[in-house]
Amino acid sequence: MRILIKFLTLFTLILAVTSAVAAGTAWWESASFYQIYPRSFKDSDGDGIGDVKGITQQLAYLKEIGIHATWLSPIFTSPMADFGYDVANFTEIDPMFGTLEDFEELLAKAKELGIKIILDFVPNHTSDECEWFIKSAQNDTEYKDFYVWHPGKNNSREPPTNWISVFRGSTWTWHEGRQAYYLHQFHSKQPDLNYNNPKVREAMKNVLRYWIRKGVAGFRVDAVPHVYEIAADANGDWPDEPRNPDVNDPEDYEYLQHIYTTHQPATLDVVYEFRQVLKELDEELGDDEHILLTEAYGPLSVLMQYYGNGTVDGSQIPFNFELISNVNNESTAYDYARFIHNWLDQMPKGRVANWVMGNHDQTRIAARLGKDRIDLINVLLKTLPGVSVTYQGEEIGMSDVWISWEETVDPQGCQSNPQEYERLTRDPVRTPFQWNDGHKAGFTEGQTTWLPIASDYTLVNVKRQRGIANSHLNVYKQLQILRDSKTLREGEADIKAISEDVLGVKRFLAGERTYIVLLNLNNNLEAINLNAAFGDLTPLLEYVLVTDRSARRKGDIIHADSIVLLPKEAVVLGTLI
Ligand code: NOJ
Ligand code: MG
Repeated sequence: MRILIKFLTLFTLILAVTSAVAAGTAWWESASFYQIYPRSFKDSDGDGIGDVKGITQQLAYLKEIGIHATWLSPIFTSPMADFGYDVANFTEIDPMFGTLEDFEELLAKAKELGIKIILDFVPNHTSDECEWFIKSAQNDTEYKDFYVWHPGKNNSREPPTNWISVFRGSTWTWHEGRQAYYLHQFHSKQPDLNYNNPKVREAMKNVLRYWIRKGVAGFRVDAVPHVYEIAADANGDWPDEPRNPDVNDPEDYEYLQHIYTTHQPATLDVVYEFRQVLKELDEELGDDEHILLTEAYGPLSVLMQYYGNGTVDGSQIPFNFELISNVNNESTAYDYARFIHNWLDQMPKGRVANWVMGNHDQTRIAARLGKDRIDLINVLLKTLPGVSVTYQGEEIGMSDVWISWEETVDPQGCQSNPQEYERLTRDPVRTPFQWNDGHKAGFTEGQTTWLPIASDYTLVNVKRQRGIANSHLNVYKQLQILRDSKTLREGEADIKAISEDVLGVKRFLAGERTYIVLLNLNNNLEAINLNAAFGDLTPLLEYVLVTDRSARRKGDIIHADSIVLLPKEAVVLGTLI
């Protein structure tokens, strides 16, 4: 019997390897990722805050829209000073979100549906209510060096350096108990871990191991550039950071150039070490590859190193924020093409590109680029080569919600002031998901919600958009079907500005149908000769995807040399085969 099982395992292994080789890709390489912000996705118990059971209830929706994997913002025990990014216990689910059993149920249901679950992993800091920090503050022998402590400049009550936290003000807070300053690159309730301590690195690796053994497919890794600070000198001191002459507010994070507190080379090694942990488990468990999606804003030359260094592998998906960070209302097709090429051209050989158009920290597409560009951006996101990452609600075109200073809860907003909070608060992109036009947009049966619901929810919701042929939701779904084609999954890409206003993407693969994606970014009528722009096409092309901006219908045939694009129109054309 044992031999038979062994034989069968070997047989399946061979089969699995063969199919992986045949497709030429690991499961994630052309996958569609979706970010769930659990507080705002679906509330199952009426307290006005989303939870794990709520996610389980709505998993079928992710299947409906063609998602392969979803990453969840933190659901771990937390005092919620930064809404879960202040973790008090990395291996426990916060009761507000549910129980470990609820999470296991989510994993089981996800497995049934073929959706992978990715957790948020916050390596840089814990909550100050984490047992490790409490013990560290008490000088406990095991934990005393788990965090970054300093007695104060020249042993006085003066912060050790001029460093400023991302959430404004000094990175140093005095701790009465330990009679020392501790470092926090974010909120004072988020003390930074000390990565020079091998015990810290091991403890964090154990977190990865714990959740992978439970069945998660990988991790989105938070705030990676902040993991290491520059090493202290012989006296245990650090240097001040230089001024940024463009910013005058001494409390503002941008007041300094963060040359000693971000992007330190040792941080890359930590990412490589985390990947190594995943690889060991890949081997041991023998199932699908486990992945890292790393969150780092920074120079591309640094970000590219997150992929690996030639001998060691790093993150499979170092988030590509080129478009989210650089494209705005005024951007031309030349700008879009340049930002897209920036990533593709600098990416190391053999790696996979990824495209992120939204997350819980950035304004939504509707706010950033205009409601009339929502489809356009989703079309681009889904037709570029590699991995796509959608933030919840972008598939139905949710908008930022204006929230008054009094009602603001995001620490990044609250730590500023009534004049400036709008530039900083992230509450507007975190409002409850709009499922339908009923009570509280179908988000909760309770009477209150932790953030207000957008007033446009009767128009912008899943239920309504299911019934409208070219709604944002249905465009998104059609894109997912198109994305399943061999050309889009494995084909090459030629990306260029055809004019100041028109971006073109050609996707092609020998023996397969070629697709041409055209985006008219502005309001001029655009006449295009695709033979001149891309060449090598059939004289006639078919419309395979249109949006509600189009006068054309799916299935219409057009001459490749005389295409007219209406204002803000996005189309996908296919060669005739
Ligand atoms: C990045 C997360 O996306 C953000 O929401 C959080 O506030 C910081 N990291 C700190 O963990
Ligand atoms: Mg709840």
